[in-house]
Amino acid sequence: MKNILKAPFVEEMKKTTANMYRLGWDERNGGNISYMLDEAEVSKYLNLNKVIRKIDLGFDATELIGRIFIVTGTGKYFKNIEFDPETNLGIIQIAGDGKTAKLLWGWRDGGRFTSEFPAHMMSHIARLKVDPENRVIMHTHPTYTIAMNTVCPVDEKDFTHKLWQSNTEAVVVFPDGVGVLPCMVCGTNEIGIATAEKMEKTRLVVWTNHGIYGAGKTMDEAFGLIETVEKTAQIYMLTLGHTVNVIPDSIIKALADLWHLTPVEGILDI
Ligand code: 13P
Ligand code: ZN
Repeated sequence: MKNILKAPFVEEMKKTTANMYRLGWDERNGGNISYMLDEAEVSKYLNLNKVIRKIDLGFDATELIGRIFIVTGTGKYFKNIEFDPETNLGIIQIAGDGKTAKLLWGWRDGGRFTSEFPAHMMSHIARLKVDPENRVIMHTHPTYTIAMNTVCPVDEKDFTHKLWQSNTEAVVVFPDGVGVLPCMVCGTNEIGIATAEKMEKTRLVVWTNHGIYGAGKTMDEAFGLIETVEKTAQIYMLTLGHTVNVIPDSIIKALADLWHLTPVEGILDI
């Protein structure tokens, strides 16, 4: 068996969470990531028949039976992951009953997956339906995104339009727009169901007064989406009340055309 601490997927989790912490997005235990792994790849590092313990899911994940994920633990600090991955991360496989997870590695202090596991798993199910190559669901608390969401109505078309109007990269990076959920109690199956419903149409979902979710085929894709929203929200907030120039809809459309992208309908007035 190869050393799991040197596995590329553990390295990716360490690097990404450290990066997110240093960007100021993940205070204390804020944020969580789940990353679907290839079974053949994981079996180079772990005996998949050796189950440390079983953890109840509290929701139905039948569609993910047999799938393996590396996941951040609940209450764990992103800033600590790079120094002690085996306590702060876990690798689980969804068991044959679709109702439990088999812990294969990690959470050596008795910990468990993020409290947002329902939203993660339900989002994986939703994204895999529209993109079979989706692998990553990422949740974080980026400051300017939350600030912009605080001063804007809970209206995903308006929110997406304001982002597209504030940064020429925005429509190119997320032509599918940003979904927005109202303020809800987090860590519940209800917010998981609502997030997954949005994820069927877009890779980005804002949780009002809380943070954002991003999805992608790779860690870079999920991170890059959130990073672009956050940078754009920063521009929006720095200029709020002083705005003179916003990007005209004709230019937003032309930018999308240039990259052969179709901006989600119902936002541009052209
Ligand atoms: P966890 O520590 O359970 O991952 O929760 C952090 C968080 O961001 C809740 O939304
Ligand atoms: Zn959160």
